[in-house]
Formats: sequence, C-alpha cells, structure tokens
Amino acid sequence: MHSHRFLVTGGQKLEGQVRVSGSKNAALPIIAASLLTDETVTLTNVPDIADIATIEHILHFLGVKTEFDGKKMVINAQAVANLEIEHELVSKLRASILFLGPLLARNKEVRLAFPGGCVIGKRPIDAHLFALKELGAEVVEDHDIIHLRTDKLIGSKFTMSEASVTATENAIMTAVLAEGESVIRLAASEPHVQDLCNFLNSMGAKIDGIGTHKLKIKGVKKLHGTEYRITSDYLEAGTLVIATAITGGTVDILDINPNHLDIFWQKLREVGVIFELGEDMVRVLPSKHLKAIRLQTAVFPSFPTDLQAPFTALLTQAEGTSFIFETLFDGRLNYLYELEKMGLKPKILNPYQAEVTGPTELMGANIASCDIRAGAGVLLAALAAEGQTEISNIYYIDRGYEELDKKLNSIGAKIERVK
Ligand code: EPU
Repeated sequence: MHSHRFLVTGGQKLEGQVRVSGSKNAALPIIAASLLTDETVTLTNVPDIADIATIEHILHFLGVKTEFDGKKMVINAQAVANLEIEHELVSKLRASILFLGPLLARNKEVRLAFPGGCVIGKRPIDAHLFALKELGAEVVEDHDIIHLRTDKLIGSKFTMSEASVTATENAIMTAVLAEGESVIRLAASEPHVQDLCNFLNSMGAKIDGIGTHKLKIKGVKKLHGTEYRITSDYLEAGTLVIATAITGGTVDILDINPNHLDIFWQKLREVGVIFELGEDMVRVLPSKHLKAIRLQTAVFPSFPTDLQAPFTALLTQAEGTSFIFETLFDGRLNYLYELEKMGLKPKILNPYQAEVTGPTELMGANIASCDIRAGAGVLLAALAAEGQTEISNIYYIDRGYEELDKKLNSIGAKIERVK
C-alpha cells in the first residue's frame, strides 16, 4: 500500500471531454473466469488499476500466464496449479472470492484464505457457499480457510440466498461447466454480472436470461478461448457526471452505456442537474438550482451503493434536507465523518441512514478516504470546496479508478499527487 495523498484546490469549473475506462467490477470476474478454459483469452478495455494488478498477481501464483499492456490483457491458463491461495495474496482484494467457482470447476478443489478488502461492513460468504453446494460442491472445512471440493458439478435449480453480486458470479462460473441445466433465481443482474455472462457465452457457454434475476444455464463440456472487450465502467461514469455537476461545469463524458444508469439519471433530474444523453455519451451542463431528495440504494436496477457516497457529495450542494438510506452495507456512511471536517453537518441516524442539509459551503480540510467509493465521494466534495483539501489513503481511489486525478485534471481540476 502506498502513502500518496491528493492536494485538491477546490472551486475549478470542469470543462471539456473525458473518456470512461473499462469496468473494474466486470474485469475482475472476467479475469477469474478466464481460468475456465485452457485456451488463450484476450481482453481489451481492461482498466489499469491496483485491483487488476492484485488479481494478476494471484493468476501468476497459480501458474497462469498473463501479458498486460495497460489496456489489453492476454491470459493463458493452460495449467492451473491446485494450491492454497494464502492470506497475503487475498488480503488486499475481497474479490479474490471470485476464484472459488473457476478453481472448483477447473481443479475440482479450491483452498482460499478468507478475503480482505475494503472496510465497508460485514460481508459474509454464506451466499457463495450456499450456491456452490447447490451445484455439487462439498465444504471440507470453513474455519481458517475456505476449502471446497467436488467429484462432479451438477446443474441445479435454486434461489440465491440473497442477490449478492460476486456470489451470483461464482454460481454462474460454476454452472456453465456443470452437467445439465441450472436455473438460478434471485440472481444479481448488475451490468458487470451481465458482462461476465456475455463473456462466458463468447467462450461457448449457454446462459439465458442475462440482465434478469432468473438465469438459465445449460452446462457445456468445454469452453474455448475468446477475444472480448470489457464494458465501460458505469460507476466511474456516474462519478465524472457528479464531478461536472458539483463544479457547475460543462463536460462531455464519452464511452458510457446510458442504460446502465437509469435510476441515476432519474435521481439527477430530481435534483435538478441538467444533462443531455447521447447513444454512448452524456453532456453535463451547469444547473441553476439543486434540490434535496431521498436516495435509497439497492440491487440493480435500483440505485447502486457504489454511487451513494459520490451522489451524497452532490446533495451537500442541494437546497433542503436529503435523506440517505444505504440498504446494503453498514459501513458505507463513514465518509460523512470526513465531510464533517469540511463543514457539513450531517445527521447520522444509524449505520444505514443519514440526513444531509444543504447547500453547505464546504471548506478545505485534511481528510481520509475510507474505501474506494468513499474516496471518490470525498474527492468530489473537495472539488466543490473552498481552499485546499488534503486527502490521505488515496490507495483506495487508485484501487478502483484509472488515473482519476489525471482525468479530472485534464478537464480543469487542480489535483496534485504528493508522497
Ligand atoms: N446484501 C443485502 N441484500 C441483497 C444483496 C446484498 O443485504 O439483496 C448485502 C450482503 O449481505 C452483503 C452486502 O450487501 O453484506 C454486499 O453484497 P454483495 O455480496 O452483492 O457484494 P459483493 O459481491 O461482495 C460487489 C462489488 C462491490 C459492490 C457490491 C454491491 C465486486 C467485485 N464488488 O461486492 O463493489 O459494492 O457488489 O453492489 O463486484 C467496489 O467496487 O467498491 C465494491 C465494493
């Protein structure tokens, strides 16, 4: 973990155009799913971020060959070692849990230390184990490490114990090579889950119902190599939209899929942000008056938890009292304590609910980034603040966003990266 900080000089109006990178949360499962074939997989539009370096590191540990030039990743998993993936490797990335399905399908056994990652609340792995057991996995032990094995993966009809994103992805990656048909209900349907399914189908998998909460998967004997472009990151797109709106600027944000952000656009309109949607871009324009709203996160297609902190940064500039209801994670309002240092007076009702009254004149302060999305949230607040804000722990921001500081600077922000 590096100790870089951002020094942000607030109050700069953003102008120009900026391109969104490939999706982190699509790239991670897709890279893990590349272990499902012994043929070469070529991925383009892969974001060059710390989380991708971490997962690549785990692939190397398993003896898988990769080449990554910062955009294109070529993966060859001709041999995948059956090794215990130790704590040190998984402690930086909760998404290491995504190896459960592929390794089980490929090696009939997986041993993985409990993954680490962000401090955003309790995230049990029960939903993963439940789904994999339905598909024929046996839990050998689940104390110090997660250890699963199977004689044979068998298609099954079941309902996920909750609409967990990565548990759904594990279930899908296991079911595509299981014998017979699976029907998975209460499947998560986030754009990154859809992208994983499209990727697997391009390898010869037979997944139906993509984008819905009910997936039908016909198991196949073998998957083949493929070339696939990772979908653009709707979470980064939303973050750049808010960056523009919060500074009163005018920016064209390119290479987006507007369909991934339906409720986000609805909420922006409700707040009073002015924007024009194109086929694969959005132009954000200066708005006159921003109004408080009620914001509630839930699974896709509802409002994404990963845009909750960024959106609340915008709500600090809206007139009236906004009500924030984070329904997924119990640690995802913690950044409000950081915004307090900038002059916001949030009312934190409990770990899930808060009230934010605006418009607040935010003042530069020394603050920390507490997870990937909280980091983006406080960075956006700093863009709107008067004076200079120093943000520490920006390692989190680098985990999830490709050169966010450079991108924002290219459209007029003043962010300096210091050691
Ligand atoms: N949960 C519910 N109800 C639900 C679904 C989930 O209460 O219907 C709870 C779960 O109990 C859990 C929490 O919500 O405590 C998280 O859910 P999930 O299992 O879906 O999270 P995840 O699969 O571990 C992925 C993303 C996260 C994102 C969440 C929620 C990846 C690699 N990670 O995590 O992304 O916040 O889904 O959408 O896709 C990030 O990118 O910064 C990040 C943390």
